[in-house]
Amino acid sequence: MKLLFTKNYCYLTLCLVLFLSGCTLPKPIKGAVVSAREEASAIGVAIMKQGGTAFDAMIATDLALTVCYPNAGNISGGGFFMYRTAAGEVGSLDYREKAPLGASSDMYLDKEGNIVPNKSTLGGLAVGVPGTVAGLVAIHKKFGTLAWEDLVQPAIDLAREGYLVTEKQQRSFESKKETFIALNGPDTLYAQGFQAGDRVQNTALAETLERIAMFGKAGFYEGPVADDLVERVRETGGIITHEDLLAYEPVWRDPINFQYKELNIYSMGPPSSGGICLGQILKMIEPYDVGQYEHNSVEAMQVIVEAERRSYADRSLYLGDPDFIQIPKDSLLDVDYLNERMNSFTFEKATKSTDIAPGTIQWEESEETTHYSIVDPMGNAVAVTTTLNGSYGSKVFVEKGGYFLNNEMDDFSSKPGVPNMFGLIGGKANAIAPQKRMLSAMTPTLVERNGKLAMVVGTPGGSTIITSVLQTILNVYEFEMDVQSAVSAARFHHQWLPDVVVFEPGRFDPALIKSLQDKDYNIKEEYSRIIGRVDAIQISDSGEITTGADPRGDDTAVPLF
Ligand code: GLY
Repeated sequence: MKLLFTKNYCYLTLCLVLFLSGCTLPKPIKGAVVSAREEASAIGVAIMKQGGTAFDAMIATDLALTVCYPNAGNISGGGFFMYRTAAGEVGSLDYREKAPLGASSDMYLDKEGNIVPNKSTLGGLAVGVPGTVAGLVAIHKKFGTLAWEDLVQPAIDLAREGYLVTEKQQRSFESKKETFIALNGPDTLYAQGFQAGDRVQNTALAETLERIAMFGKAGFYEGPVADDLVERVRETGGIITHEDLLAYEPVWRDPINFQYKELNIYSMGPPSSGGICLGQILKMIEPYDVGQYEHNSVEAMQVIVEAERRSYADRSLYLGDPDFIQIPKDSLLDVDYLNERMNSFTFEKATKSTDIAPGTIQWEESEETTHYSIVDPMGNAVAVTTTLNGSYGSKVFVEKGGYFLNNEMDDFSSKPGVPNMFGLIGGKANAIAPQKRMLSAMTPTLVERNGKLAMVVGTPGGSTIITSVLQTILNVYEFEMDVQSAVSAARFHHQWLPDVVVFEPGRFDPALIKSLQDKDYNIKEEYSRIIGRVDAIQISDSGEITTGADPRGDDTAVPLF
């Protein structure tokens, strides 16, 4: 491609200039970790410097995020792990939370059958059975090369020594302070209201991590850590029991695999909607050759928005936990079906979402999740998206253990067909049932080109996850950006319902917005939610590694030389 040629040409020119001036060449990057926090990325790279693989680095990075990124990093939530080994084997692990054994489809409804506000988002009843520690242990069992306790130790040290609060974090803590006090009491760790530059030491979390280091899965799901978790859930109105914790198992699942032009793409399958929706949208876009248009031009945006609209409509009807419902995966990704879906699209005028699918089924997810991408010098690659769901999950803090509990139960449809307290609606496929996993949008993704790993990418952002991953891939492969520019570029989002195109405020030309409005698109430009915080790694055909860390957050790429 043009970019590849340009980059190689630049590199050769640089080599020549450096050679003629007697300087040494910049060292090539051999691996990298890109995550939401510099500390976590650096810890992952330190593990690789000790000879660890991307799999070892993943465990250390994940646990470090638990310490220094407590709004989304977690031992008490869940996530999805996509991997590609140096030999080209691709797979995924689902360690999504599950509904407790005592859960029921109407657990968030009152006697009249109405949704009780806050019940599925705040407090103990919002908590799903955590999957993260079981997931990390399963990954270590299958792929780990360094000792488990050596991978947990950096997070223990970080918790004891403390991490420095950033300005963005200070704002985040301030915005939740009242809720932390109301739910957990004024003397608990995060009710203190830390300021930028403060050092947060979390001895209780260090002790929890020490038990996890010593006893692995049992260190979290059994013994005193489990006792404290169950007690805290119960005293805040929840129903998770020891039986729930003991029953939790992660599941190795086949990833979703599809082609987009010369790219071979792998992404997460159900219970995440990420892979299927990403595949649907890209396959609907493919015949339009969006690269022929300018980046973020009216035409390119119309094609992307209309494909998104159609895919998100399907999502709400067909997707949920594959262990509980039949998902017509092949039909949803069938090229003829997808081409037919786009038949009603014209460049003249916006399609109306009500014309795409009758009824009012809608969904959305909250915005606080985190993603990291890793490649190692051996050629292994890992893409992980993990979450507590809301920022700081249910806001319930287990003071004795030093961590927040998730509120992943809100990703279920509390009442199929009826909006929840955020005005969101879900389908029957995603109704609550004991032991069921709630539908996700998390989209950890691996891209191959010419049979080789080409990109590792993912993001937080609730329902905007899929469209942010999509735009990053298109920015690189259709609009010929380097990966950092692709990550930083202004983004937009459409999810069928509500029928609005959401723009990052102030980043789009008013003339472009006016052109879309003239074609009957409803526009929302004022700030309402994040549109992704993408962390990505690109590997060129010649093996050159470049990184993209999202400037919207504190995200940082740490290279391994
Ligand atoms: N809770 C965010 C997601 O799973 O997509």
